[in-house]
Amino acid sequence: MLRRAFSFCKTGRHSKVCTVVGSQWGDEGKGKLVDILARDYDMVGRFNGGANAGHTVHANGVKFGFHLLPCGVLYSRTHNILGNGVVMHFPTMLEEIKQVEAAGITCRDRIFVSDRAHIVTQAHIEADGAQERSRGSEGIGTTKRGIGPTYTTKMMRIGLRVGDLLHWDSFVHKYNRVVDFFEHAYSLKIDRAKELDEFQSLSREIRPMIVDTVYLVNKGLDDGKRLICEGANALMLDVDYGSWPYVTSSSTGVAGISSGLGIAPSKIESTIGVVKAYTTRVGAGPFPTEIIGGVGDHLQTKGQEIGVTTGRKRRCGWLDLMVVKYTHMINNYTSINITKLDILDELDEVRIGVGYMLDGSPIYTMPSNLEDLSRVQVQYETLKGWKCDTTKIENWNSLPTNAKKYLDKITEVTGVPISWVGVGPKRENMLLNP
Ligand code: GTP
Repeated sequence: MLRRAFSFCKTGRHSKVCTVVGSQWGDEGKGKLVDILARDYDMVGRFNGGANAGHTVHANGVKFGFHLLPCGVLYSRTHNILGNGVVMHFPTMLEEIKQVEAAGITCRDRIFVSDRAHIVTQAHIEADGAQERSRGSEGIGTTKRGIGPTYTTKMMRIGLRVGDLLHWDSFVHKYNRVVDFFEHAYSLKIDRAKELDEFQSLSREIRPMIVDTVYLVNKGLDDGKRLICEGANALMLDVDYGSWPYVTSSSTGVAGISSGLGIAPSKIESTIGVVKAYTTRVGAGPFPTEIIGGVGDHLQTKGQEIGVTTGRKRRCGWLDLMVVKYTHMINNYTSINITKLDILDELDEVRIGVGYMLDGSPIYTMPSNLEDLSRVQVQYETLKGWKCDTTKIENWNSLPTNAKKYLDKITEVTGVPISWVGVGPKRENMLLNP
């Protein structure tokens, strides 16, 4: 009955369950859309990743950087959920809570952490660094936040879960087991007494937040509440569908929601793919539309393309619609949010990658093999730039004609309507397609 009250909604504003996911290599600006939509939602849930994400929200003149907290945390009525698919680094979460409290917003009683989520320890973090160093010039470029090793011990079934904090003796036993493993495998030396002390004192703060989030979310939906599923990273970084091995260790697409939040796929009504108006990548790996120098440098500088978590410069290139079509095939976007259109404002012409050729023939999907991906020849369409400042624009109809042509081309090639366009970092710099 309740499902009939809501329904498929292109913009995500009226759905019962709306998903916001990255459609490229991350850093598309998902945080801003989640923040805008969250005003009218009851729950916002993270389902994947950990403190390797970097969601930025500009609200009421303050810039917030969230690695773990869901972006709904700034609204006083929104419940914020860290699902079982997330890997938890508690010191980071507590720092973020302080950041929110410093802005005069209370949030502790609105944060719920899954008892099934796995915990990142110092050993996971140090193992991440050791693994990356051992790869030498073939390094993946991880954030060294312990994310990969934490998912590894989850799969090895020797990890530590958040619910273990509620049973201290068993927590200590499992903690020693996981530290034994890493010390042995990577010749590490962890100060166990110090870290256990830290866990014991932070567990007093965390305890009230630990719940069975699977029940919380599904009961909430049954009671008529509405949920945003907030994706971290993006599908090209997905452990299955991304440009493996230059990926993160979680399921970053719609498929990750069911396993990472515990809700059935049939409950998801809208999926908004966030697409940056150009393409960026952090770290190594093939990047077909990359622009070395010139416009690439301009995009990097004007777009402030520097990793929030790592401080590394992002590589920049033209919008690659092969990537967006591929991720749409897997995520099935109901609409697209184009972000950072304003970064293209000054260009004389803008190019869009619309197809790939491999060995003289067109290909219709993303090669799984990186050698092939590094050999594709991109087919481009070139459009005239709009050469005006879009950051002051307040509604869709006022967008310059050439900018509208750019957006129309994206819809024509991908077959997905555009619901929102970002023309600046602030909440008000988001235009709704009427
Ligand atoms: P990951 O989960 O780590 O991939 O992050 P994300 O997709 O949430 O990206 P993030 O929130 O870090 O956004 C990237 C940056 O773009 C932030 O600094 C945002 O403030 C900024 N941003 C978002 N939308 C726009 C826009 O339309 N124009 C401009 N100029 N900046 C924007």
